[in-house]
Amino acid sequence: MPLLQGRSSSPNACDGDLIIVQEKYNALTPVVLRAGSFLNNRYGRFAHDDVIGHPLGRRWEAKSHPGTGSGTQACAGFVHALKPTPELWSLAMFHRTQIVYPHDSAVITLFLDLRPGQVLIESGTGSGSASVAFARAVAPLGQVRSFEFHKPRADAAQKDFRALGLEHVVKVTGGVDVVKQGFLGVNDGEADAVFLDLPAPYLMGEEVARVLKPNGTVCTFSPCLEQVQKSAEMFRKGPFHSVRTVTAPVRTYETREQILGTPGFDELQESQKDVANPALNDESSRHRKRQRIELSGSTRRKLKTAGAERLEMADKNDGRHDGRVIRVAARLHSRPFSSMKGHTSYLTFARRKRGNVKASPNNGAGPKLLLGDAKSGADGSGISRRESCIIS
Ligand SMILES: C[S@@+](CC[C@H](N)C(=O)[O-])C[C@H]1O[C@@H](n2cnc3c(N)ncnc32)[C@H](O)[C@@H]1O
Repeated sequence: MPLLQGRSSSPNACDGDLIIVQEKYNALTPVVLRAGSFLNNRYGRFAHDDVIGHPLGRRWEAKSHPGTGSGTQACAGFVHALKPTPELWSLAMFHRTQIVYPHDSAVITLFLDLRPGQVLIESGTGSGSASVAFARAVAPLGQVRSFEFHKPRADAAQKDFRALGLEHVVKVTGGVDVVKQGFLGVNDGEADAVFLDLPAPYLMGEEVARVLKPNGTVCTFSPCLEQVQKSAEMFRKGPFHSVRTVTAPVRTYETREQILGTPGFDELQESQKDVANPALNDESSRHRKRQRIELSGSTRRKLKTAGAERLEMADKNDGRHDGRVIRVAARLHSRPFSSMKGHTSYLTFARRKRGNVKASPNNGAGPKLLLGDAKSGADGSGISRRESCIIS
């Protein structure tokens, strides 16, 4: 069951497949299924054989509870066995670097205009989170060609892509400094899109212009505005148009059912009786006001559970409590999570200009652009690294 359809045609999980095990909504682990093996965690001992041959997206019951050895089914826990998606993978994967989270890769995929069959050039690969999202967009016939300076990191990412069944879509070139060496092996005008998650994307203008098709798109992922400024400057002076910067902040909400403590009207009424009584003198009024505050303070604590108790009573008594019909006070409440995962950055997009390319001396007015003579380029766009040119 690869991440993308292709390697296995079976709808069921197979021996050797990588799946995502969800223990809690925020606890996800990648597991490679092996016949005869077991997964052990705090919820129990899980037989891989219970998943192999079955569809994913289901509850996976433990054979025994941790610590009970061959305990009974009744005391064992459960997890969910899920099919990997780029979104789940980003949360379950081992983070070797900062990663691009799904809400950002969704926006990047949209504005890069990524579609099946396209070629995307990326650097750096990092942990491979963004690469997996892009791979889904361009698969099955497109390609993600990813460049990573750090060789062991590149190898680890390539291993992950193989495990996910993506080796036919994503190819990593490790040990390459793209700022100095460029996108090695990529032909002029070969790329539909370029994605840069690097410390200095603003040094890549020439190389991006070389590999992009006319009207191809580029995105730089920058954590700070200084980088954005420099990248925008590079795009403005180079053969690019439609420069824009966006952010995609995420705000997730938790929704839970709460039973509200309904006000204790009986007690409140008693304590408020005198408030509107004009016959009371000032001193007495102040005293009673103090009493009221104290009383409502103490009853407030009691009332926290009052709603729950009344509901329980009403449940047993046909919706009535003390002879009165009571209102059900259970409500759904949503509020933003206090901590949210999302390494959000500034996303700066631009498009490669179409049009004539003419040779021009670089007079130091902007980044030198290595564009080409009109006959070169994979698509005849006339872009190569051989001459220094600008687009008119
Ligand atoms: C923040 S990580 C990329 C994370 C990746 N986008 C993801 O979603 O997992 C940046 C990566 O760029 C690599 N890098 C930095 N400078 C580079 C360069 N000049 N050439 C190639 N890779 C570079 C780093 O080694 C690092 O792994």
